Amino acid sequence: MIKAIKGVKDLLPEETPRWRLIEETARRWALRYGFQEVRVPIFETTTLFARSIGATTDIVEKEMYTFPDRDGSSLTLRPERTAGAVRAFIEHNRAADPRPQKFCYLGPMFRHERPQAGRLRQFHQFGVESFGMSDPRADVEVLSLLWRMLYDLSLPGLTLELNNLGYAEDRARYKPTLVTYLKGVEAQLCSNCRRRIDANPLRVLDCKVPECRTATDGAPRLADALSPEARAHFDRVTSGLQALGIPFHLNHRLVRGLDYYCLTAFEVTCSHLGAQNAVGAGGRYDGLVEQLGGPVVPAVGFAVGLERIALMLPEESAIGATPRVYVAAFGTAAAAVGFTLLDELRRTGVPADMDFRAASLKAHLRQADRLRSLYAVILGDDEVAQGRVTIRNMQTKAQEEITLSEVSSTLQTRLLTP
Ligand code: HAM
Repeated sequence: MIKAIKGVKDLLPEETPRWRLIEETARRWALRYGFQEVRVPIFETTTLFARSIGATTDIVEKEMYTFPDRDGSSLTLRPERTAGAVRAFIEHNRAADPRPQKFCYLGPMFRHERPQAGRLRQFHQFGVESFGMSDPRADVEVLSLLWRMLYDLSLPGLTLELNNLGYAEDRARYKPTLVTYLKGVEAQLCSNCRRRIDANPLRVLDCKVPECRTATDGAPRLADALSPEARAHFDRVTSGLQALGIPFHLNHRLVRGLDYYCLTAFEVTCSHLGAQNAVGAGGRYDGLVEQLGGPVVPAVGFAVGLERIALMLPEESAIGATPRVYVAAFGTAAAAVGFTLLDELRRTGVPADMDFRAASLKAHLRQADRLRSLYAVILGDDEVAQGRVTIRNMQTKAQEEITLSEVSSTLQTRLLTP
């Protein structure tokens, strides 16, 4: 038997209503905030991700699905969508368009991580990217969209954490002090962090290993090395959030696993999720468009993980809709007439179904029950001969007889009129 690849997930009909609810809620909120959907390819040249996410990040070092194309060029299945959105923004010269360039997207991403609850190798993100605005209100706008959207889904136990990563110059000024400190506690760090001391020292602060956290408790803080401009930007972000009533916590350890961030970095976690507790994350990435060969364009965005939202979504949030009418046609003549009636109902907008395997009335009614139909249209050869059918209310079991020609209009009135 051929099985699905490790770390990917099939969504069966019982689960898709929850997913649709999440997707529709996200799209509705994004549209309300003026974000327009973009669809960019699932695979891109490997360099795009290496140059944007950062060569020394976990994603680029060990998690990308990278493969040679037939001409030998290196391709990668997108591990995230910001890089692709930036590539498209530059390629289509969107900086020249005076309208706000606010994009949203939804789709699968691929990372070769160790699978566990809420962590997959093919997972789905909904995200937004707001290009062109350095004003801190753009940060507050995406943060409020993120918060309101998750709140609308009634997700329990959410916390928004923020940090100020400053400008590249701020971090360059801070790094040598941090490296000196980390070298002093090197023996207490995990092997991953020891490796990171020179390559990506800030990430050591973000390590979840308890020994690393204890060792870095006394580390010098980036907050103390920030320029007045970086502080002013962040102050306006936090006061903007306060003005909108969005609760947040400051977390000086929040660094993020992607290198393109500056100033505002954030993460929303959920206390109900266990180890993989980040529901969504993002931040400002003012240098990325230029770094990838475009003009100087500030930007800010976030992405949420749909699998993690689906895990947290209250059980009763979405129940699948099944056809409300079941056509129970049995007997040779009735089967043919019933099939035509089924088509007529569907054409006129009434969701209707019939199981072609059922031969007896009993078998048909059992299926109508299983499908949670509201009405069954009962039609045997005798009924066909008289041009009449029985409509059975599947909840009350009440039955009434009407003419065959009235079925469609009767059910339309009952089911489609508000
Ligand atoms: P990220 O933190 O790598 O950021 O991913 C965002 C969210 O995607 C995570 O918070 C998590 O919910 C979900 N996620 C990540 N990896 C997995 C996985 N293996 N399985 C399930 N869910 C996962 C980014 O991707 C940035 N591009 C976000 C961004 C947009 N920054 C600016 N704009």
